[in-house]
Amino acid sequence: MIQTYDAREVAPQQRAASLIDRLKQLRPGTELDVVMPQNGATLLQAVLLAAPHRFWFSPVDATAGSGLVRFIARLDASAPRVAEYLSWDHDRLDAILVECMRAADAGDWQNAQRCATSFRHGLFRHIAVENDILFAECEERTGMRDVGPTAVMRHEHEDIQHAVDEIVKAAAAKDSEALQRWHANLLGVLVEHNMKEEQILYPGTDRMLDDATREQLVQRLLLG
Ligand SMILES: [Fe+2]
Ligand SMILES: [Fe+2]
Repeated sequence: MIQTYDAREVAPQQRAASLIDRLKQLRPGTELDVVMPQNGATLLQAVLLAAPHRFWFSPVDATAGSGLVRFIARLDASAPRVAEYLSWDHDRLDAILVECMRAADAGDWQNAQRCATSFRHGLFRHIAVENDILFAECEERTGMRDVGPTAVMRHEHEDIQHAVDEIVKAAAAKDSEALQRWHANLLGVLVEHNMKEEQILYPGTDRMLDDATREQLVQRLLLG
């Protein structure tokens, strides 16, 4: 069970220090969900500045408070890699989808709808940082935009987003049959897409960049 910490309950001037203290108590590999205050980006930047490389974070839900962000304490403080951060984000999103389908199977449509919305929020954000930051960086370095591997991946993103929108609609309509169909449809694209990213694109990008540029890129992906 992932614990939740509500940063809105702490006075603004103490928020950063208090959150960093709480995060430092996390055992490596464990996660914490944080309800963000307004201007949450400032808080995320403070965490990055105070404890570089110690935590990954990614939004879970836009509807809770001013947004819910999941943090994980990394297993070590080694130099950050694109492959490690975005693969963790894939696993995190996969788990939300599994929970959505499990809830729907059990007839718990309220939870299924909540998970579907959260999955959409997290995955659309994941796709946005890939399109706008990661792929853009690769394309600039390789000079291949319209014909290279990222062009195929961008196209797959559109198919993935369409299937996810249909999953959200099916969950809202409590339509088991449509949910199963769009879930199968999504996995038909997403599983191979994620595998290509984790095995080829992410490690390839990591290898292409020097340490300082890679670190800056991961930072942009985290805050994006
Ligand atoms: Fe992708
Ligand atoms: Fe991805």
